[in-house]
Amino acid sequence: MQPDHYIELMRNKLDHELFVHSLGVAEAAADLAGRFGADPGKAYLSGIVHDYGKRFSGPELLKIAGQLGVSLDRITSREHRLLHAPVGSALINKELKISDPEILRAVANHTTGRPGMGRLERVVYLADYIEKGRDFPSVDKIRKAAREDLDRALLEAVEFAIRSVIERRLMLHPRSVAFRNELVEAQRNRTGDVFN
Ligand SMILES: [Fe+2]
Ligand SMILES: [Fe+2]
Repeated sequence: MQPDHYIELMRNKLDHELFVHSLGVAEAAADLAGRFGADPGKAYLSGIVHDYGKRFSGPELLKIAGQLGVSLDRITSREHRLLHAPVGSALINKELKISDPEILRAVANHTTGRPGMGRLERVVYLADYIEKGRDFPSVDKIRKAAREDLDRALLEAVEFAIRSVIERRLMLHPRSVAFRNELVEAQRNRTGDVFN
């Protein structure tokens, strides 16, 4: 894996804003990986390519999904913001020849999250929210949590994501709800407050 090769590829294929965001996610993911026990090299590369699917429109992503045999559930197939993740994952496999299953999973699940995510998926999911270019009201709270406790930061991030989906009246993917509940349950188990 040569990150420079993929950086140059993304510089040419993504618009400038998305390219800068991708570099930010790569740096944040590598940093989180170093602190929370994932592979920093894989985290960096996942960050570089995680939004590759965003260069295509919704209809284009649906067409590509058909061509590459990506199976999509009903909600994902109706939301461009969700589609770019699983289809992007298939595209980086096909076009960029990235075959590491952990990286492909991290890219595929970076928008909704899912219960049972591995460490690489977790750090990439979180890095997407806290990279240095992000600026939204609760970002500092999530960044602070990320310095202390990966699961607590993930819980802050997914709750922010769910709130923002509801505020914009978009469809909420049940995987995000399941991911959030898993984190709540893990937190209760840690504190011994099983029934809250
Ligand atoms: Fe994304
Ligand atoms: Fe992103």
